[in-house]
Amino acid sequence: MISKENVHKQLTVGEVAARSGVAVTALHFYESKGLIKSQRNAGNQRRYPREVLRRVALIKVAQRLGIPLAEIGEALKILPEDRAPSAADWKILSQQWRQELDARIEQLTLLRDRLNGCIGCGCLSMEACPLRNQGDVLGEQGPGPHFPKD
Ligand code: FES
Repeated sequence: MISKENVHKQLTVGEVAARSGVAVTALHFYESKGLIKSQRNAGNQRRYPREVLRRVALIKVAQRLGIPLAEIGEALKILPEDRAPSAADWKILSQQWRQELDARIEQLTLLRDRLNGCIGCGCLSMEACPLRNQGDVLGEQGPGPHFPKD
């Protein structure tokens, strides 16, 4: 329950939506996933602390980077709940996500390069196609179909 002195510091879900640019349904979804928290007022309506705005901003940026919500939730767990994420918090999270983004870019670049070899081929062979062959044994010999040597 919200104390009387905090009642004016709280935001309704509509106010959070208007200030953050995030739909009410998305805010409810974030809450259902534990990414943000609200309290109930005397009328049993959700009220959010103002700090939630920075949390929502952080969630949106992370989503734009392609970070899965579950991972964002794990990252947010390390942040104190009684204050907005600080610049220092953001530095830690953004450095971690930067490394993940670099790794994803590297993987996607590799996949793109392998796809180049598939364009115009069409074999989709489990043995020869580097995009189908998880071990990529024959794919290491270059693009296009390869036939096992006797
Ligand atoms: S389609 Fe991928 S190597 Fe043929």
